[in-house]
Amino acid sequence: GMMGRNNIFWHECAVGRGDRQRLLKQKGCVVWITGLSGSGKSTLACTLDHELHSRGKLTYVLDGDNLRHGLNRDLGFSAHDRTENIRRVGEVAKLFADAGLICIASLISPYRRDRDSCRAILPDASFIEVFLNMPLEVCESRDPKGLYKLARAGKIKGFTGIDDPYEPPLNCEIEIKQEEGACPSPSAMAGQVVSYLEEKGFLE
Ligand code: PPS
Repeated sequence: GMMGRNNIFWHECAVGRGDRQRLLKQKGCVVWITGLSGSGKSTLACTLDHELHSRGKLTYVLDGDNLRHGLNRDLGFSAHDRTENIRRVGEVAKLFADAGLICIASLISPYRRDRDSCRAILPDASFIEVFLNMPLEVCESRDPKGLYKLARAGKIKGFTGIDDPYEPPLNCEIEIKQEEGACPSPSAMAGQVVSYLEEKGFLE
């Protein structure tokens, strides 16, 4: 298009999203995993990544914790910085999906409006929000990095779920939760997402 804003123009290339999808024989999308620290987001992301990869799908994982070593190394955990963190990862995920990949983003992403903003920049139905709904007690008892302990001791301020908010999704595509008090296994969690993707035609 030729619409200019502040003298910045958008260039269309000859190769479009549809062309890349035909080349890769897959539809790009974003699987956005949200949940508390220790809820199993990274485990689900990696298990799903492996499962889809073995089905011949091109995937890429964007993990909040990892991206904070590079792209988002300038950001902390204030509400403002978390919003910017999610905005950037949403934009990167959008590029991956546009490139034709199944992009798996795994971030706490505690604010509903930030997740909704990511949804809003993606083509219809290509943003799949997965709520990893594990009780705080479970996450805290796992405490893989010892951060809950530090937060309880007041040595980390503004820790999600302790003294910082987490807003659960109201209308997510997939909710993963405990069944009869037992946490689902990594493969059961990934299986739930794979079934959804199959049903929606992303794995044809
Ligand atoms: S966010 O809220 O989406 O911007 O967070 P994210 O980029 O996913 O990073 C979360 C990981 O950072 C570690 N960490 C904290 N989490 C929450 N609150 C505070 N204050 C905090 N400080 C550090 C923590 O290890 C998170 O890891 P995960 O993988 O979620 O367990």
